[in-house]
Amino acid sequence: MKNQILHKIIAIVSLFTMLFVLIGGALVTKTGSGLGCGRSWPLCDGQLIPSNITPELIIELSHRLVTGVAIIIVGILAIVAWRHYQHVKETKFLVIMTILFFIIQSLLGAGAVLIEQTSLIKALHFGVSLISFATVFLLTLIIFNIDKHFNTDQINITKTLRTNFYGLFVYTLIVVYSGALVRHKSASLVCLEWPHCNEGQAISTFSVEQWIQMGHRLMAGLLFIWVVGLLIYLFKNYKSNFLKQGWFLATVLITIQVVLGALVIFTLRNVNIALMHALFISLFFALLCYFVLLAYRSNNKNNNEQ
Ligand code: HEM
Repeated sequence: MKNQILHKIIAIVSLFTMLFVLIGGALVTKTGSGLGCGRSWPLCDGQLIPSNITPELIIELSHRLVTGVAIIIVGILAIVAWRHYQHVKETKFLVIMTILFFIIQSLLGAGAVLIEQTSLIKALHFGVSLISFATVFLLTLIIFNIDKHFNTDQINITKTLRTNFYGLFVYTLIVVYSGALVRHKSASLVCLEWPHCNEGQAISTFSVEQWIQMGHRLMAGLLFIWVVGLLIYLFKNYKSNFLKQGWFLATVLITIQVVLGALVIFTLRNVNIALMHALFISLFFALLCYFVLLAYRSNNKNNNEQ
C-alpha cells in the first residue's frame, strides 16, 4: 500500500515535469531564447555558471535544468514501472518508448543549440516531445490502475472505431507538425484575420508562409470536425459511459485548442495564449493515445476469441 502511494507520487511528479519540459521548450522558441546560452551545450556560454545574465539565458538555462530533473524522475518512473507493473502487457513497450523518445527529444534539443538546423527539422521536436509526454501519461494511468477502476476490459471497440482512433493518431501528428512549422517558419502572424487570411487578398498572391498558416488552419479544422463526428458516432452507437465521457473530454480539449489557435492571431501571438495552444494539444494527444491503447487491446481480445 505504502509502495503504491509512492509509485503514484512518482508518476504524477513525472507527468508534471514532462509537461514543464514540453511547455518550457515552447517558451524557449516563442521568446527566441534558443541561443540564450550561445552555441554551447551542456555548458552555458562555455561556463558552468555564466557571467553575462540575460532574460534569454535564464529561460534557456531553466529549460535545461528542468530537462535534467526530468531525466532523473522519468528514469525512476521507468524503473518502477519495469519492476512492479509488468503484469500489464503494454508496460515494457511503454517504458522502452519513454526512454527512446526522451533520448531523441534531448538530442534534438541539444542539436538545435549546437548546429544550425532547418525549420523542417526544428518542427520535428514538438511531435517527439508530445509522444514522450503521452508515454509517461499512459504509464501513469497503468500505475493508477485506471483500467480496473473502470472495467475497460469489458469495452468492445469495433473495427470502424478502431480505424478512426488509429487514423486520428496519425492525422493529429500531421496537424501538430504543420503547427510547429507555422512557428518555426515565422508564419504565425502572416494572416491577421480569421477564418480567412487577410481581407481582400487573393489566394494567388499568398506567400509560402501564408500557405503554411492557412494549411495549418484547414487541417486543424478537419481534425476538429473528425473529433466531433466521432463523438456523435460514439453517442449513437456505444453504451459505454467511459468511452462516451472520455471522448467528450477529448472533444472539449480540441475545441479549446481551436479557440486558442484563433486567439493566437487576435492577440498578435500573446505568449501565454501561444503556450496554452501548445499545452492543450499535448493533453488531447495524450488522451487520444489512451484510446488508441484501448482500441489495440480490443483488437487483440477479438483475435484471441476467434
Ligand atoms: C485542432 C486544432 C489545432 C491543432 C492540433 C494545432 C496545433 C498546433 C501546434 C502543435 C502548434 C505548435 C505549437 C508550438 O510549437 O508551441 C501550433 C502553432 C500555431 N497554431 Fe495551431 N493548432 C490547431 C488549431 C489552430 C487554429 C484554428 C489556428 C488559427 C486560427 C492555429 C494557429 C496557430 C498559430 C498561429 C501557431 C503558431 C503559434 C506560435 O507562433 O507560437 N492553430 N498549432
